[in-house]
Amino acid sequence: MKLVEVAEYDIDGKLEKDLQKLLRESFGEMYPTDRSYYKQLPHFRFIITDEDEQVMGQVGADYRVMSLNGKPIRVLGVIDLCVSEAHRSKGIGSFLLAEIDNFCKGKNIDFVLLFADNPALYLKNGYSTAKNNCKWLQIDEVKQTTYGIGMEVNNELMIKKLGNENWASGDLDLLGYLY
Ligand SMILES: CC(C)(COP(=O)(O)OP(=O)(O)OC[C@H]1O[C@@H](n2cnc3c(N)ncnc32)[C@H](O)[C@@H]1OP(=O)(O)O)[C@@H](O)C(=O)NCCC(=O)NCCS
Repeated sequence: MKLVEVAEYDIDGKLEKDLQKLLRESFGEMYPTDRSYYKQLPHFRFIITDEDEQVMGQVGADYRVMSLNGKPIRVLGVIDLCVSEAHRSKGIGSFLLAEIDNFCKGKNIDFVLLFADNPALYLKNGYSTAKNNCKWLQIDEVKQTTYGIGMEVNNELMIKKLGNENWASGDLDLLGYLY
């Protein structure tokens, strides 16, 4: 098993096709057929391959400032974590989350943040659920257009505190799209 960190602009050719296949297999029909991202490109990914260079799992990351009750926070967003069906329940998902933690050590990041309809994996890896009034840029992933500003309490929000800042209930402005 090999783990690599890849900047998004270095992903093309076979790797891009393999990621596309894994994402489609993992997220199903709703995932676009012709690309390796859902709404927007992440900034970089951790990718796990086997000894034959076959992609077994991946996670994307997005670094940005968000605004929590008017206060800027630096957030690393976890995007589209997935593991190929044949290799699930062997700890690879947790391993990728641990790699995100390792990456964040000593960096200027206040929180890791993600959205998950099933919190199980994340709870066992140190994340907490959070309920905030979220505001975000709405993107139609089919037409690839922006169409408005979403405002809603999001029930899928999960966070992990890294720095000295404490998470707070209230308003979370994502200052961008919701991944
Ligand atoms: C979620 C996923 C990445 C977990 O990868 P993994 O390598 O099996 O993870 P681990 O072996 O470290 O942990 C497995 C545990 O994750 C939890 N889990 C399973 N599916 C999950 C899911 N869709 N979302 C969250 N947690 C999940 C379960 O508690 C599971 O325990 P079990 O094996 O005893 O059932 C993998 O199941 C997957 O790719 N699913 C499809 C894509 C997806 O839903 N990604 C999450 C997006 S938020």
